[in-house]
Amino acid sequence: MRIQRNPQLNANGELIHLLSTEGLSKDVLTHILDTAANFVSVSSRDVKKVPLLRGKSVFNLFFENSTRTRTTFDIAATRLSADVINLDIARSSASKGESLLDTIDNLSAMAADIFVVRHSESGAPYLIAQHVAPHVHVVNAGDGRHAHPTQALLDMYTIRHFKGDFSNLSVAIVGDVLHSRVARSNIHALTTLGCPDVRVVGPRTLVPQDMSHLGVRVCHDLEEGIKNADVVITLRLQNERMSGALLPSAQEFFKSYGLTTQRMQLAKPDAIVMHPGPINRGVEISSEVADGPQAVILSQVTFGIAVRMAVMSIVASHEA
Ligand code: CP
Repeated sequence: MRIQRNPQLNANGELIHLLSTEGLSKDVLTHILDTAANFVSVSSRDVKKVPLLRGKSVFNLFFENSTRTRTTFDIAATRLSADVINLDIARSSASKGESLLDTIDNLSAMAADIFVVRHSESGAPYLIAQHVAPHVHVVNAGDGRHAHPTQALLDMYTIRHFKGDFSNLSVAIVGDVLHSRVARSNIHALTTLGCPDVRVVGPRTLVPQDMSHLGVRVCHDLEEGIKNADVVITLRLQNERMSGALLPSAQEFFKSYGLTTQRMQLAKPDAIVMHPGPINRGVEISSEVADGPQAVILSQVTFGIAVRMAVMSIVASHEA
């Protein structure tokens, strides 16, 4: 029987693409976090650049909207001294019927070295990774409801920064878990890094009943779900991926699952509050919590630059 190799790794087990946190070892994840730690100080230097990707071309292909991910990939690639090309998808020939792989072939003919890809279709970055030449690398910047690995890695970096390590932590992921690529990628990363207690919390319509195979506990009661948590990760309602009415209203959701100061008192006193963004105030989180002392939401954004520098420099240093 032929064993299917993880398409993210070469024959030596080295990372050549980043497509998902699923299937990556603790060593690989830890190496990315440790590499990111070395890049954090670059942002506070007079000259915010290192030469690791000098002469390389990074193509940002965002077929879906983004503020944080697109901008921090652009900054990260620039700080690595790469040439950065942000393709304006709305004005590209994708709107004239050009297929995804034809677009990739044409950009490859312009000597692309790294494609950073966000797409509404789950699996699009995998398709591209299987298609490109061996020297070209693909980084998934979020595909459908499947995966958002760099968000998960910057979340792991943030948790490690504020909490030290994962071995005694309780982490609650609250909200629309069903449609969330961030939740899926975070669950794989947290369990691989040794977090012993991961809970997913939300209404039955937005949290799959059986997630025990992923090593998490399902709670439909918010109070129970965040009790004694060290980390609370809130998720927005991903209306763009919902089909049909899964909730009475956003106001009803806030009443039952919105993160408020009062509810946060159930978590540990030193618990941190995280959110991948964009936040919807008064829907999944109150302004008091989002702007309060326990929120580390903007630190997540800042750490995203170093984490994306780490990912691009690591994949580019390995041959397929
Ligand atoms: N967290 C995140 O993916 O945000 P953007 O959609 O703004 O990139």
